[in-house]
Amino acid sequence: MSEEALDLIREVVAKSREALKIIREYTHKTPVEVSATFSRMTGGRVLLKYENLQKTGAFKVRGALYKVYRIKDKYEGVVAASAGNHAQGVAYAARIFGLKAIIVMPEGAPISKIEATKGYGAEVVLAGRVFDETYREAVRIAKERGYALIHAFDDVDVIAGQATIAYDLMEQVDEFDQVIVPIGGGGLIAGVSSVLKHYRPQTQIIGVEPSAAPKTLAALREGRPVEIQPRATIADGLLVKKIGEITFKIIRELVDGVYTVEEDEIAHAIYLLLERGKVLAEGAGAASLAGLLSGKVDTRGKTSVALISGGNIDLTHIYRIILRGLTREGRLARITGYLPDSPGQLKTVLDIIAKHRGNVIGIQHDRIDPALPAWHAKVTITFEAAGKARIEKILEELENAGYTFRLES
Ligand SMILES: Cc1ncc(COP(=O)(O)O)c(C=O)c1O
Repeated sequence: MSEEALDLIREVVAKSREALKIIREYTHKTPVEVSATFSRMTGGRVLLKYENLQKTGAFKVRGALYKVYRIKDKYEGVVAASAGNHAQGVAYAARIFGLKAIIVMPEGAPISKIEATKGYGAEVVLAGRVFDETYREAVRIAKERGYALIHAFDDVDVIAGQATIAYDLMEQVDEFDQVIVPIGGGGLIAGVSSVLKHYRPQTQIIGVEPSAAPKTLAALREGRPVEIQPRATIADGLLVKKIGEITFKIIRELVDGVYTVEEDEIAHAIYLLLERGKVLAEGAGAASLAGLLSGKVDTRGKTSVALISGGNIDLTHIYRIILRGLTREGRLARITGYLPDSPGQLKTVLDIIAKHRGNVIGIQHDRIDPALPAWHAKVTITFEAAGKARIEKILEELENAGYTFRLES
């Protein structure tokens, strides 16, 4: 290992001990629980650490608290650029230590995030359409006012703050083989790996990032942080163009494996956490579990801890995730077909659906579209279903009765 990396890791571990004292005072020691469902589904022993229940709804408040604590006597105020959990973490930390906070968010930031951040007493400035522009404005404001700019991940103090999750784990769980950590800019995984490899060196540290934003894999391949062109992802907290310089130096030495997860896998993990665990996670927060459920991270015969790192999901996203999850499990179906345009046809179709315990919740009936076959109506029926096998049966019986319907995805 290079001297430089070793020094960084030593600094993170030393600072994390001080950070723990401050962070414990102002945050929750969030619960860790064994999940019987996910253990069964993966064939290993799966524990979930619920940082979605942390103050401000995400672990980010840990790094923010320690950073603001360190600089509080030198500055009157702090500035951060973020539309996510860092914003709320910094706003909360500034209020605790009596500093002013200015949070710069991109112009399109969701109202819910703006309001939550203002709720912690921060001033919110909207600037820029893409994050780079937002960040530039934050740098400008910090300079103009003489405030400290708090980076979201590439800062040893922030990393040391995030590292405090590792102490919770060591106190709460007797033995674990691996920890699964989502990667945005890498602050969380750099912190957690520094402390765990120090105190429990046999622990495997596994990173997960969306395939839409694989900046860590790109950096590992190139041997240095490189800028990628990420796509939009449901795990918006992990949407970062380039891994941090400091975080990468640590990740390269201490992380045992990095895997990507697909959007569908993340959405399904959110759905399962909600449905089975009654737990609300945001995309970034569910990515670690998605990694386990996808089968990419090896779990057999191991105790794995997945960090559910945050729960701040926009409510407008949830119903779509639920509909998608229900459809995937065969509990909701949408079928489309063409019916001869004569009385009684629709009733016959609905009777077949009802016979198999389908509960209709919507029907679209179109007789006007000129592209329709002559004297036919196009019908789309949405219904609550009693499982995939029943849906198959309904389609089969409709076919036998002379109606061809297809299942919409
Ligand atoms: C909920 C959640 N999980 C994970 C991450 C990734 O953390 P890091 O940028 O330290 O890798 C973030 C970052 O914002 C987040 O909000």
